[in-house]
Amino acid sequence: MSDRKRSVKDIEPAGKHILVRVDFNVPVKDGAVTDDTRIVAAIPTIRYLLQKGARVILMSHLGRPKGGPDAKNSLAPVAARLERLLRQPVAFAADCVGSQAEGAARGLQDGQVLLLENLRFHPEEEANDAGFAGRLAALGELYVNDAFGTAHRAHASTEGITRFLRPAVAGFLMQKELDYLGRALDRPARPFVAVLGGAKISGKIDVITALLGKVDRLLVGGAMMFTFLRAQGKATGRSLVEEDRVDMARSLLEQAAARQVELVLPVDCVAATAADGSAPGHAVPLDRLGPDEMGVDIGPGTVDLFAARLRDAKTVVWNGPMGIFEVAAFAAGTLGVARALAEAGGRGCVTVVGGGDSVAAVQQAGLGEKFTHLSTGGGASLEFLEGKVLPGVAALDDAEGA
Ligand code: 3PG
Repeated sequence: MSDRKRSVKDIEPAGKHILVRVDFNVPVKDGAVTDDTRIVAAIPTIRYLLQKGARVILMSHLGRPKGGPDAKNSLAPVAARLERLLRQPVAFAADCVGSQAEGAARGLQDGQVLLLENLRFHPEEEANDAGFAGRLAALGELYVNDAFGTAHRAHASTEGITRFLRPAVAGFLMQKELDYLGRALDRPARPFVAVLGGAKISGKIDVITALLGKVDRLLVGGAMMFTFLRAQGKATGRSLVEEDRVDMARSLLEQAAARQVELVLPVDCVAATAADGSAPGHAVPLDRLGPDEMGVDIGPGTVDLFAARLRDAKTVVWNGPMGIFEVAAFAAGTLGVARALAEAGGRGCVTVVGGGDSVAAVQQAGLGEKFTHLSTGGGASLEFLEGKVLPGVAALDDAEGA
């Protein structure tokens, strides 16, 4: 698969019905969007097409509804937010296929935009049902995929549809994600450092294995550090250890050594007797973690250690929080790493962040502007870093000469 795909710049959209898959899977509370990052990220493609005089039909999923339509997962609040961002009316069809969708699409004039209701209200979307993909395809004359966040799913609106509708090209967001993530992995300025966190090593084995073949240094935080520490025979108290992955952790440590990749583990942690913040935490060196305590964040000594190991970095990829970041008292390690990366960026280092929690930490610290690229993909960016083929990307037309 080539990651070089034809783009919206390669099509002539004027006067045409353009079907655009976006990832508007955003948090909604009490009928209002609470974080519009993903909507904002899709605006350049939408605005470009509208300015070219296209009739734009947007489609997305929201959440994981099971068994048909439900108000909680309606895209109606997204249409309202999009209207404000675009500063123009956004028509909304209460279904993504059938007479409602067809009538609304037919009614579009040049430069007008329509958002279809949640694709996942139809189970055929996730089943990648050919009949459903064909019905979606019939709404447009050209297909654009700007939903990088959903590119790891082979669904009717991301993969199946391209069997019915061509050209099938990448939007600006999709291109930007592939460019930044691809460049970081394939042509990194060195030293190339990966920072990995998250609770479980089991979900990160593939990415660690893939990155060991590429990076010069790997910094490991988050609860998964305890599975590595157990593999080294160290005390872990009541911390989360995946007993069935200890051998795998040992093998990863050996692979790192064999490849001369410096694998840096924490030297201290924030210890607490409860993970929900109901008991206070205190910083301890790892060898003094009490038997009743669990590690809930990396400690200040580790933040300093990681910052020092980031100082000479020229490329950094970060995925996964350093602790239980959603509990404010246990967020300091993740925020500290975000600050260290922002400083590295200030020294000219390329900084790429993937994964919802790490991106949220960067935003929460008000450091978004200081990073080279914040990916809109959680699972998608992880699979990309694992070196997997993303079906939603593979299905698009290759760029000329790719
Ligand atoms: C995401 O939020 O990672 C994407 O929108 C994909 O959603 P999914 O994991 O429900 O397929």
